[in-house]
Amino acid sequence: MSDASVVRVAGEQPYDVVIGRHLLGHLTGMLGEGVRRVLVVHPAALATSAETVRADLVAAGYEVYLAQVPDAEEQKTAQVAAFCWGVLGQADFTRSDAVVGLGGGATTDLAGFVAATWLRGVRVVQVPTTVLAMVDAAVGGKTGINTAEGKNLVGAFHPPAGVLCDLAAVESMVPNDFVAGLAEIVKCGFIDDPRILELVEEHTALLLDPVAAASSPVLAELVERAVRTKARVVGEDLREAGLREILNYGHTFGHAVEHVERYRWRHGAAVSVGMVFVAELARLAGRLDDAVVERHRSVLTSLGLPTTYRADRWEQLLTAMRRDKKTRGDLLRFVVLEDLARPARLEGPDPTLLAAAYAEISATPQRTSGILL
Ligand code: GLY
Repeated sequence: MSDASVVRVAGEQPYDVVIGRHLLGHLTGMLGEGVRRVLVVHPAALATSAETVRADLVAAGYEVYLAQVPDAEEQKTAQVAAFCWGVLGQADFTRSDAVVGLGGGATTDLAGFVAATWLRGVRVVQVPTTVLAMVDAAVGGKTGINTAEGKNLVGAFHPPAGVLCDLAAVESMVPNDFVAGLAEIVKCGFIDDPRILELVEEHTALLLDPVAAASSPVLAELVERAVRTKARVVGEDLREAGLREILNYGHTFGHAVEHVERYRWRHGAAVSVGMVFVAELARLAGRLDDAVVERHRSVLTSLGLPTTYRADRWEQLLTAMRRDKKTRGDLLRFVVLEDLARPARLEGPDPTLLAAAYAEISATPQRTSGILL
């Protein structure tokens, strides 16, 4: 078994997030006692990895089924969930059997949701293969699918039995997907752990190359630090009753950009602009100093992430932000910073402040630059 670091997530049923390379040897331990059947949910691009997982589990005595699902958001539908439930039903999965989610954030969301709903909840072990899934989607127990009306509208809190972050998987990531995933790590740097920002500043060139980064201790430390932030937050507030909201730093504006762009922007790119917007909002509200705002721009720009957005979409963005599920009543709510690692809330900001923050991040000409698609 390889060297790996372990982050424990507290809660009713604590679990481990293991970070390292070539971690499949940990999978049987995470499945736990009494499991006989395992369903591995995976997209077509990971069919070979899924076969390897199957062979390992069969050799260890499990009865293994594979559910190959569509790529990306296409898999987060009621129809695909029903296909997985069908496989579980045909194979007589019981409450003591388990699901494995092998893939990016969409797969871990789907696999988690299937596990949460089958027989009112069976174990799920998440094996995220993208940076975004390792530091965000696979950890913390949010599971869900989309409906015609919006993303993640149907779901459940269903913490995994364990998470295996195999950094070797990052080698085959598309560079722009990899860098977009780094935006969520940078977010953890601003809201909780500024050492993350220093590491990104010291190792920018390395972080622009997923193949080099995948085997470097720098990426391992960044993923571990971001997972520690997430573990601390969700260990205290699984159901987003308070503290967990800080993980949405940059997301209110970011989700609005994703909506206005009809989900053609990468999530991390939208969150990148969203963090600069909300940093400007905090500065204009007199709560954050110029240096921290500029650090948002410098760190994100150094990674090639966008920090501006087209100037002609304010009304659409406002409408989308008002519809965001985190809005309480008619009041817009933002997670802002008062300093590095000092998150706070800003509720119902003056519309002129919002418009002024938008002006600060508006791009001329209309199109912005950076990793978007
Ligand atoms: N992605 C934000 C959360 O897990 O709460």
